[in-house]
Amino acid sequence: MKSLIIYDSAYKNNTEKIARVLANKIDADLLSLKESKGVIIEDYDLIGFGSGVYKETISSKLFDYVEKLNLRGKDVFVFSTSGVGMKFYNKKLIHLLESRGAICKGSFACKGSFNSREFSDNKIFELMSKFAMGHPNNEDLIKAEKFVERIVRQIKE
Ligand SMILES: Cc1cc2nc3c(=O)[nH]c(=O)nc-3n(C[C@H](O)[C@H](O)[C@H](O)COP(=O)(O)O)c2cc1C
Repeated sequence: MKSLIIYDSAYKNNTEKIARVLANKIDADLLSLKESKGVIIEDYDLIGFGSGVYKETISSKLFDYVEKLNLRGKDVFVFSTSGVGMKFYNKKLIHLLESRGAICKGSFACKGSFNSREFSDNKIFELMSKFAMGHPNNEDLIKAEKFVERIVRQIKE
């Protein structure tokens, strides 16, 4: 099975850490949207899409990228890192992928560290940043590995 992971990790490379662990686990090719490298989507059986969360949304760069793809019948999964580390941020991306014909096999999220003072004076963000400190940590990386192993197992069954 040929796999690819496409991600945008614009802030602290938190999402990139997850992308690399996922790619290592399933021997996937990696495409960062910071690069201008072209890939042939049709060559892949499974594609993971990942991003940090910026102002309540997954990267607009990733949305723009997905909008141009034909993913009819393609198995995909989604992952994100954010201050809260919750999967609800992935929903909009999943809907877009499905509207492009993809079959979503799973969704993963974990916390990613950030400095609230860099973008907000809101005390809630300050508190959130304390909980997110040090993430993604080893435990997050292990959870990411288990997540992707489960997906591959499910596809092969
Ligand atoms: C400008 C900015 C806005 C952010 N907005 C949110 C947000 O709305 N919700 C949240 O949970 N985390 C938010 N975060 C935290 C990031 O999602 C978190 O640091 C993430 O791990 C960044 O991923 P990256 O390092 O791969 O870019 C924000 C961070 C930045 C820098």
